[in-house]
Amino acid sequence: MNNEIIYETFNNNPVDIISGPGALGEVFSCVGALHARRLLVVCGENVVKLPAVNELRDNCPNGIQLQIFDQVEPDPSDSTIVAGGEVARDFAADTIVAVGGGSSMDAGKAIAAEAGAEGWILTQDQPGQSTTVPEGILPIIAVPTTAGTGSEVTPFSVITFTQTQRKLPLNHPGLYPRYALLDPNLLISAPRIARVAAGMDALTHAVESYVSKEATEHTQRQAGQAISLITQNLRQAAEAPSDTQAQAALQRGAMIAGLAFAQSRLGIVHAMALPLSALFGVPHGQANAILLPYGMEYNRPAAVAEFANIAEAMGVSEEQSDDEANSRRAVEAVEHLAEDVQASRRMRDVGVTQDAIPRMAEEAMKSPHIARNPRAIQLDDLIAVYERAY
Ligand SMILES: [Fe+2]
Repeated sequence: MNNEIIYETFNNNPVDIISGPGALGEVFSCVGALHARRLLVVCGENVVKLPAVNELRDNCPNGIQLQIFDQVEPDPSDSTIVAGGEVARDFAADTIVAVGGGSSMDAGKAIAAEAGAEGWILTQDQPGQSTTVPEGILPIIAVPTTAGTGSEVTPFSVITFTQTQRKLPLNHPGLYPRYALLDPNLLISAPRIARVAAGMDALTHAVESYVSKEATEHTQRQAGQAISLITQNLRQAAEAPSDTQAQAALQRGAMIAGLAFAQSRLGIVHAMALPLSALFGVPHGQANAILLPYGMEYNRPAAVAEFANIAEAMGVSEEQSDDEANSRRAVEAVEHLAEDVQASRRMRDVGVTQDAIPRMAEEAMKSPHIARNPRAIQLDDLIAVYERAY
């Protein structure tokens, strides 16, 4: 990987991607192309302290106004979206620049919609219903500071609804960012636990996309590529945050996983992860890291050949073995990786109580990911998988 700034698009995705060290500097050429004048930067309280955000403010060209909304919390809530929408309207923002991890990018997307339609977000707390977005949703420029969520290239925004304690994925083509700026220099500041959780989230996207019922040859090629990049770089990126090459490769893996799952959707692990976050505040990536090997084990009998391919992408398949043996190696390799990077491994270690399992299983059953999972899922199956992961 070199130090050039690369501009690219992918034929199954509408987002223009600009990547490389210093890619953040391209933000104002994106703003120019959008004919934008009033930018609302959406971020959290840690990201707002980054020199990068100051740089944005300081380098703002004449004629462009910039305002910052820095109140995005992990797992952004509907009330944050309402507050951000109000700031966007008061400022008359014409573009959202979402800087941060998945939470900030997801919040930025929802604020882009809420800005033009006060109270819109509160109408979206409807599991199983299609997301609607108002006309005139603001264009979004996504600037990830973690390598994980892939939100910069997806039409999804996961929002926690305060009243019902539900964490729901909104999904609408209007929520695709117009531009994604992948600057590995922005990843260095994230704490280790966040980098590991993000990487495990990205791996989960790639694995779930690979075996999804809606996977195509194209999405599987992307998912396989993402699995390789993440497996090869996560250990190093976790250990050595200043290794820009490993960070950039991981960031690319996470983005490519995003391209894949934007099409194929996900499966059992994401369905089960959301209630862990909604009810116990377990960060999304940590929830996935815990549940991924158990979800893979559940799915393996229904997708033996696919899991054997995943083992190959992870570099652990053996030529003389059959698919059955290699598919088991994929699950083991994920366990080894999670252990090596010291990811969370059990629900009991992150504050989840066992008596919540039936309720979590009921919530997980409502997830749109259930229908995409390669193996059919009943309520009792989810309870059994949660019990094993406890
Ligand atoms: Fe995820």
